[in-house]
Amino acid sequence: MKYKAIIFDLDGVICHTDKYHYMAWKQIADELGIYFDETINNRLRGVSRMESFEIILERYDGTMKEEDKAAYTTKKNEVYKELLKNMSPADLTDEVKETLLALREKGLKLAIGSSSKNAGFILNQLGLGGFFDAVSDGNNITHSKPDPEVFVKAAQFVEEAPRDCLVVEDAKAGLEAAIAGGMECAAIGDAVSCGLATWNLTTFSDLKNITN
Ligand code: BG6
Ligand code: MG
Repeated sequence: MKYKAIIFDLDGVICHTDKYHYMAWKQIADELGIYFDETINNRLRGVSRMESFEIILERYDGTMKEEDKAAYTTKKNEVYKELLKNMSPADLTDEVKETLLALREKGLKLAIGSSSKNAGFILNQLGLGGFFDAVSDGNNITHSKPDPEVFVKAAQFVEEAPRDCLVVEDAKAGLEAAIAGGMECAAIGDAVSCGLATWNLTTFSDLKNITN
C-alpha cells in the first residue's frame, strides 16, 4: 500500500464547524464594532484561535492590550463551545463514516491532526471519541499550521515515518504544514484551488481509491 497512516484535519474535513466558528467570532466582532464576513472567516481555517483573532483585529481601529485579547478569545471559545453542544453523531455523514471504516479495514492507521483545542470535545459529540488511533491537536503543539508540528506529532503518535503518512486537509495552511512535514497531502473543498496537494478530492470517499 502507498501509505501506512492517514492524518485527518478535523474542522472542514471530518465535520463542519465553520458555521459555529463564524457565529461565535461574529458576536465578538459585532461587540467590538469590527466588520466581519464569511470571506474573512475563510482566512481563519486551520489557524489557531489567537491568530484568528489577530486576523479579525486587522480591521480594528486602535491597538488592543494582550489581556483584552485573551479575554475576547476566551469569550469566543465559551460561545463556540455552547454552539458545539448542538453537534451529535447525526453530524457525521454516512460517507465519512463508511470511508473511515473502509480505510481501517485496509489496515491503515487513522489519526487526527487539528489546530483546535476543542478536538476531543468535537470528536465526542460526533460519537468518535476513542475511534482514532491518535489525536494530535491544539493542546499538544506550540506552533499551529502552516507549521508542520501538529502533523509531525500525529505521525509520531502512530509510530509511522512522515513519508508513509497522507494528510487530508481543507485549508491552504494545512497543506503547507503537511508539505513542510515531508508528507503527501489530499485536498478537499476550498483547498483544492491552492494547487498544492498531491491529490485533489472531489468527495471524501475518493480516499478509498488513492490509498490502494
Ligand atoms: C481549526 C480551525 O481547526 O482550529 C480554525 O480550522 C480554528 O478556524 C482552530 O481557529 C482553533 O480552534 P479552537 O477550537 O482551538 O478555537
Ligand atoms: Mg480544516
